[in-house]
Amino acid sequence: MSSKPGILTIDPILPFMRERLEQSFELHPYTTPEDLQRFAPRIRGITTGGASGVPAEIMNALPNLEVISVNGVGTDRIDLQEAKRRNIRVATTQNTLTEDVADMAVVLMMTVMRDVVNNDRFVRAGSWPHSPLPLSRSLTKKRVGIAGFGHIGQAIAKRISAFDMEVAYFNSHAKPDTPYRFEPDLKSLAEWCDVLILAVSGGARSANMINNDILTALGKDGFLINIARGTVVDENVLLEALKEKRIAGAGLDVFQNEPDINPAFFALTNTVLQAHQASATIETRTAMGNLVVNNVIAYFTDGTLLTPVV
Ligand code: DGY
Repeated sequence: MSSKPGILTIDPILPFMRERLEQSFELHPYTTPEDLQRFAPRIRGITTGGASGVPAEIMNALPNLEVISVNGVGTDRIDLQEAKRRNIRVATTQNTLTEDVADMAVVLMMTVMRDVVNNDRFVRAGSWPHSPLPLSRSLTKKRVGIAGFGHIGQAIAKRISAFDMEVAYFNSHAKPDTPYRFEPDLKSLAEWCDVLILAVSGGARSANMINNDILTALGKDGFLINIARGTVVDENVLLEALKEKRIAGAGLDVFQNEPDINPAFFALTNTVLQAHQASATIETRTAMGNLVVNNVIAYFTDGTLLTPVV
């Protein structure tokens, strides 16, 4: 039997991460709970993605787990209290993906407002010579509301400020020192803005915070952009609002049950869909992957983490 510490890889890892990890660790990809039982006692570390986290049944099956290295910044799918109680250390890839995720919020806003995807389909279908396309919407002079004003929310505001658009934000737990307009709650932000961008953390506090009330406040000319977590939005309510054109459109990178998303989204022409790609650039995924590996190596070298959360 190998004397190397066992690492469970919950999400697929990039080849360079595998190569680096295999030098010091015995790697076990997660397949099924039954399979996990065969090698569970040997597992001392986990690598996982922000969207996958560590399901309770996996954490509970690993009596010798010491460290979780998350390939992302979200910890909403990890029971941090339980990790603390069991003295399991947790690291994320904080500060690696802020810029790319903020870029994706702007890309989605522009793509849905300027109707880029429908235009692309129209041109490819050879329809250009035969029929006009519906007009799209201007960004200029529109108001953008950002819900959640941590690193990513602030990076979005910085980008939006380069356009001739107004910015306001709502943040539930802190009011950062910024020049941007602050709205006291989500509903007043939705009433004020033309585009509502979600940049809040996932988890119980933000679950279904986009409900019928908020979409009604956003109104029929309003757009919703979500680069946060699918759980933040009541999807059935959003689907109805999009279908009935009670809001103008949506740009969505994340979904409730991703990757098995509700097929009702596929028929909507006022919605742009992404497969949770906000941080998925070569540059950022390379930086993230290296940090995931470096955290595991640091932990098993001298008990430290480079970017700890617990
Ligand atoms: C995160 O950082 O948690 C992302 O959602 C993973 O890509």
